[in-house]
Amino acid sequence: MFFVSLMRRVKETVVFKREFVTNNSLSFSYRGRMSSSSSTNNNFNNNERTTTIEISPNVFMPRLAFGTYKLKGAQCTKAVKKALEIGYEHIDTASIYKNESDIGEALEEWMTTTKTATKDDDDDDENKKKTKEKNFERKMPFLASKIAPAEMHSKLLVEQSVEKILLRLRIPAIDLIMLHWPGVSKVSPDSEIHKEKRKDAYRALEKCLKEGKIRAIGVSNYHVRHLEELLSYCEIKPSVNQIEAHPMWPQEDLIEFCESKGIAVVKYSPFGGGGAPLLDDVFVSTREEEKEGGGGGGDEEREQAADIADDQAWKPSQILLAWGLLRGGRKNRGNSKTLCGAVVVKASSEERILENYEALEKDFFNSKYLSRKLEVWDSVETRKKFAWDSDCVK
Ligand SMILES: NC(=O)c1ccc[n+]([C@@H]2O[C@H](COP(=O)([O-])OP(=O)(O)OC[C@H]3O[C@@H](n4cnc5c(N)ncnc54)[C@H](OP(=O)(O)O)[C@@H]3O)[C@@H](O)[C@H]2O)c1
Repeated sequence: MFFVSLMRRVKETVVFKREFVTNNSLSFSYRGRMSSSSSTNNNFNNNERTTTIEISPNVFMPRLAFGTYKLKGAQCTKAVKKALEIGYEHIDTASIYKNESDIGEALEEWMTTTKTATKDDDDDDENKKKTKEKNFERKMPFLASKIAPAEMHSKLLVEQSVEKILLRLRIPAIDLIMLHWPGVSKVSPDSEIHKEKRKDAYRALEKCLKEGKIRAIGVSNYHVRHLEELLSYCEIKPSVNQIEAHPMWPQEDLIEFCESKGIAVVKYSPFGGGGAPLLDDVFVSTREEEKEGGGGGGDEEREQAADIADDQAWKPSQILLAWGLLRGGRKNRGNSKTLCGAVVVKASSEERILENYEALEKDFFNSKYLSRKLEVWDSVETRKKFAWDSDCVK
């Protein structure tokens, strides 16, 4: 696949030996990510894509993550394996999703099984043997999980939760763990208790990082004031802030703040979450609607944009993912030549998992259709948030 070969060219990979914690004590090769381009230089063009962000020294986070909220059991295991086969290199989960064991199963199968024999191979023992010997090139994806508000009540609880995450995922160390929310469960949002609890919880993550159980630590759903408070006492700066962000909820001020502090932003719910409400939104209209006048501007211009879109065959889902990979803080607005952070997207079917991944193959920097969409979205006045807002947490 075009993108996969591009990734190989852009990145040098360093192979570590890592013990896989399974009943059989299997071990496998772990490929850490070493990007040939620096994290601060994230401009790219069609020939040179920077597909990862260095979120902490030598910790490279791939920009497109496969989200797993609401995926459970066999469906989750199957979807994660499919995502890995397609090429996703970053899997996002959380303790609260209750699917880490299913993901652990997918990872173990992914890392240890050989290519599935075809029907013809089944008919021929010798061929079957040869096929089994031919392993796909497999590497561990970047793994991210989150500590739930119910696990933030004490430092000890956080440390125990980290251990449990590792056990469920069947790995000895994880790339990234975030605090899922700036507060603890079962306490009124306006209580002062949250400040103390999230401080202790973050301290516990710092400890786990020093012990080598986590390679990078971060937060999720933190607003500027939560981050300012954290930056005033943290020993290790948060590597990421995972937040809801899409054209209807662009969070430019928060993203700008994160950029100024060197905190990578991971944008979640690019389609507005379950049921993908943004895909039906007028701003993600189809090219036919665009021709009918959805985007503003003169007729000729509209037709031209629609023709370009036809050429490039952007799907609405891919346009939304492009927004997520391009749009940053307010200052960065209008600069569509720089990537900003990462995006995490969830899908269940093979077709959708692939369609979303193929967004990475589109021409982000020379598409008039995309530029036009970005402009339209930038000028929207009505905004809409889909997930619960943590702004109420003191
Ligand atoms: N940190 C946090 O607090 C937080 C909060 C929310 C989400 N997240 C993370 O972010 C991930 C993504 O966000 P999300 O799950 O809320 O929502 P999302 O990725 O915006 O959208 C998921 C929805 O879009 C549908 N979909 C996916 N690809 C599609 C396509 N190509 N065409 C049409 N429909 C498509 C999915 O349907 P099917 O599944 O039926 O295919 C699902 O209903 C989560 O899974 C989770 O990992 C984090």
